[in-house]
Amino acid sequence: MSVRNICCIGAGYVGGPSCSVIAYKCPDITVSVVDLSQQRIDQWNSDNLPIFEPGLDEIVKSVRGKNLFFSTDIDKSIQEADLIFICVNTPTKSYGLGKGRAADLKYIESAARMIANVSCVSKIVVEKSTVPVKAAESISNILRANHKPGVKYQILSNPEFLAEGTAVTDLINPDRVLIGGEQTPEGLVAIKALSDVYHRWVPEENIVTMNTWSSELSKLAANAFLAQRISSINAMSAVCEATGADVSEVAHAIGKDSRIGNKFLKASVGFGGSCFQKDVLNLVYLCECLNLPEVAAYWQQVININDFQRRRFANRIIECLFNTVTNKKIAIFGFAFKKDTGDTRESAAIYVASYLIEEGAQIRIYDPKVDRAQIFSELTHPAVCNNPDRVEELVTICDDPYRAAEETHAVVVCTEWDEFVTYDYKRLYENMLKPAFLFDGRVILNHQSLMDIGFHVETIGKRLARNNVNRPIAATN
Ligand code: NAI
Repeated sequence: MSVRNICCIGAGYVGGPSCSVIAYKCPDITVSVVDLSQQRIDQWNSDNLPIFEPGLDEIVKSVRGKNLFFSTDIDKSIQEADLIFICVNTPTKSYGLGKGRAADLKYIESAARMIANVSCVSKIVVEKSTVPVKAAESISNILRANHKPGVKYQILSNPEFLAEGTAVTDLINPDRVLIGGEQTPEGLVAIKALSDVYHRWVPEENIVTMNTWSSELSKLAANAFLAQRISSINAMSAVCEATGADVSEVAHAIGKDSRIGNKFLKASVGFGGSCFQKDVLNLVYLCECLNLPEVAAYWQQVININDFQRRRFANRIIECLFNTVTNKKIAIFGFAFKKDTGDTRESAAIYVASYLIEEGAQIRIYDPKVDRAQIFSELTHPAVCNNPDRVEELVTICDDPYRAAEETHAVVVCTEWDEFVTYDYKRLYENMLKPAFLFDGRVILNHQSLMDIGFHVETIGKRLARNNVNRPIAATN
């Protein structure tokens, strides 16, 4: 079987870029990306795409209107497709059973029901969203219980491993493409059909096929291992601050061990993004349901350390500013959860800003890619805020970093945007109140030159010389 027509349900951070790259690499396949949100689809059809990813604009512009289409006509797109990707969101449940841990599968279920309602011929349905193990079985049950006569479905798992900020290069040169499916003759035909789509540009050895459950679990496992690595180095950063060791030196030393490797060993204010926390919690919940409480507790600790790191950093800011930030002006540089994306979901900046707002600080936020509405929507979300008026009163969004830092007591770096390294820190310093504090939550700045300018600098995982005088060793822990 050869795939000629693809429908992608969900035009978000995964559906948009991944299907744009498929259209770009497969000119003979028609790809329609559909969504319930008219606004999102309008943005995909405009010059101002709804998400920022380096290289994405060029790819979309080169194929949009040729073999790549964005639409809200979900039924038509499903009917025309031989293969349907489900790329809808699977957030952590905020209500009912499993609240705060389980993945909310209502969007997946609604996508499956839409497919069953309108499909008149057999289709391959591919879950690309990250889901708990055995979600494919639930999709299959829904489809098979509602199928029209003669219509058959093959369900595949094809989790997406792209990272925001490098989505296009990750999609063009993936470390691996994972395809899980039923190990039956029909299942193997479906696996082959999807493999053939990727084969156009991905070498055969990088396309890994396996059973559906292994594929589903591999995605959760990969994110859990990545998040665990960040929590491990962040846990080590607390030890470094307490002892005088330097976490960058420790990371360099352990990264030289080829069994450990040197990637993903950078200490910071904590991980964010839509996936790590959600997927680890999803794994924790899965383990609890499987009656594996020790395994659940093990992975829960990855989240606990991340919470601890964000709180520890905010506490350090408060302690350094003479134990009170009430009415003090603090500039936050960066609100996206990492550089080269405008995504703010679970960004460490949300938590750091919220802790400081709770203490009555006046916050000025500058981010090169995140707009005011997005920042306010995060800071007033009920999960982090019980007084939205206070946020309105205390937070100002700035479109210029120098203006943001003017007359402030402190600058706090929360995202590792490249431009932050290039600023004229002497100019920033001159316009700040004294003593001027700089908290580098991403360990990206040249601390010695900042201290030479006159800043009091604090960073993650390292006690800078002057701090020994100002700060008792255990104070931040
Ligand atoms: P997103 O929230 O950016 O996009 C999901 C889209 O699906 C939204 O635009 C929403 O309107 C749409 N949608 C929901 N239900 C729908 C329905 N029934 N019909 C049509 N459209 C519907 O989410 P994102 O970030 O793209 O994530 C999607 C999935 O991919 C999640 O499971 C996530 O865990 C996974 N993932 C995300 C990665 C990332 O970097 N964002 C990376 C790898 C996997």
